[in-house]
Amino acid sequence: MGRIPMSTADAPVHDGGLTRAERAALDESGRPVVLVCFVSALVWLLLGSLFGDVASLKMNLPDWANQWGWLTFGRIRPVHLNMMIYGWASLAMIGVAIWLLPRLLHAPLQVRGLAVAGIALWNIGLVTGNGLILAGRTNGMEWLEMDRYLSAPWLVLGGGLVGLSLFITMARRRVSHLYVSVWYALGAFLWFPLIYVTGMLPIYHGVEHAAVNWFYAHNALGFWLTAISLAAIYYFIPKVLGRPVFSYQLSLIGFWALAFFYSLNGMHHLIGGPLPSWMIATSIVASLMMIIPVLAVAVNHHMTIVGRFAALRYSPTLRFVVIAAMAYTAVSLQGIFTALVKVNRLTHFTHWTIGHSHTGVYGFVTMAMFGSMYYILPRLTKREWPSDRLIRWHFWLALGGITLYVVALSIGGVLQGLAMNDTSQPFSNSVIVTMPYLWVRTLAGLILTTAHLVFAYHVGWMLTAAPQTRLLPPWHEPWPIIVPPADEGPAPGVASWPASGCSSSGRWRS
Ligand code: HEM
Ligand code: HEM
Repeated sequence: MGRIPMSTADAPVHDGGLTRAERAALDESGRPVVLVCFVSALVWLLLGSLFGDVASLKMNLPDWANQWGWLTFGRIRPVHLNMMIYGWASLAMIGVAIWLLPRLLHAPLQVRGLAVAGIALWNIGLVTGNGLILAGRTNGMEWLEMDRYLSAPWLVLGGGLVGLSLFITMARRRVSHLYVSVWYALGAFLWFPLIYVTGMLPIYHGVEHAAVNWFYAHNALGFWLTAISLAAIYYFIPKVLGRPVFSYQLSLIGFWALAFFYSLNGMHHLIGGPLPSWMIATSIVASLMMIIPVLAVAVNHHMTIVGRFAALRYSPTLRFVVIAAMAYTAVSLQGIFTALVKVNRLTHFTHWTIGHSHTGVYGFVTMAMFGSMYYILPRLTKREWPSDRLIRWHFWLALGGITLYVVALSIGGVLQGLAMNDTSQPFSNSVIVTMPYLWVRTLAGLILTTAHLVFAYHVGWMLTAAPQTRLLPPWHEPWPIIVPPADEGPAPGVASWPASGCSSSGRWRS
């Protein structure tokens, strides 16, 4: 057992057989596209936060700002959803995938122009889609609100071009072994166009609409948001800790079990709805079976990090990403519980579901993306994060805000469900009982928005600062506490021993 070397000069220069210079060249190949993805993702995050805050306030003050159609809840809410899911989360995830895959495949990003054009088209789709929703034009299906003729084609084409560039990169790979992050990330680029186009087709009637709607929306969660977020977590935990993932077999069981069971889950959004009971029953059984991939991932992540939790004090990336991994387990267990008929009878149509959804899309996906950006941006800009204090503010505001959000809505949601199911009470009681919890959610939303402003400001500062403004990465631990056992090799296709197991920074171990 030896201590991890402290400087880049001491550090081993291999990453799955790559020299540091080769790895830097791979990062360089996707640099402009990743930067454009991240910057546009941040713009959508700020806009989406604004719309989220307004939507939240409107639940407290229903008569406020209703004189203009575009400011009514029915438009603000879907705009929030679409900006956050397809703007913030998707663009951040696409950026992470474009950065990760060349590293893992040992091949520079191919036909970069396609990817750049793809991101531009994706953004055009978002601007037209959200603009049209504000103007009152939608497809009327949740998660599929953006116009199927004027907006969706841009997203399909844009995503397709990015996917093409990534699959050509895959074809030119110089590795025979595919690390699990590659499975998840490329799987997402195959699955997403299939489900999105299926959901957008103008061929459904009546109740079919609802079934297709939730086939799409649930698979968008599982095969798009979850897949790329897990790809990132599977990369960064071993990478920052400098130890291999606990079990490669377990990670593949997790992948294939997710692929098999998630696709059958969608109808659990319609428990009690007018669908054949076999469809609902199948989805509930498949939800219970989700315990297999969820436990496989949880055990694998836990065993990879066990004994090294202290490293969270020194790595911003690890902090965000480990919280994301924990939130994935939590939201999935909560989801399995919520899919039980008796529980769903209480929680359906209540704020409990919104608490669950934000545990997933924020606690898991958004935190995973923040953590990834803390790692990737210094490597792309060749600059260290200018302020460790801002990183701490960002982390605690995000964690505090989302905890408050979820706790308030979970309690408020259960009380709301109890009141709704009690036929001796007027319906209005189920609304009144939630009011204090909705105010707390508005407060939580403002805290989260502050976290986003801090992060966006910090990224802006970093991008405009002169290169090499710091000599040490933030939270640098002068004498690392991470001591890898001598017999451990680097994670397959991933990890080299870091120069310091505790930095977010690029320069120290490229
Ligand atoms: C085993 C895994 C999971 C199961 C079984 C599950 C189950 C459920 C169920 C039953 C609902 C519907 C609640 C209702 O309407 O009554 C739901 C809603 C939702 N879940 Fe999950 N969930 C899981 C994982 C996740 C993950 C990982 C995310 C985020 C990445 C997520 C995000 C959401 C969202 C956003 C909704 C609300 C959709 C909407 O109404 O717009 N879930 N989930
Ligand atoms: C500033 C932070 C945020 C605030 C204040 C906020 C607020 C809200 C509000 C008020 C709603 C409508 C709830 C309802 O209809 O009862 C909502 C729904 C939603 N938000 Fe957020 N949100 C925030 C962050 C995010 C983020 C970062 C994402 C995605 C990455 C997201 C995704 C969603 C989704 C998918 C829904 C629909 C959920 C469902 O139907 O179950 N939100 N949000």
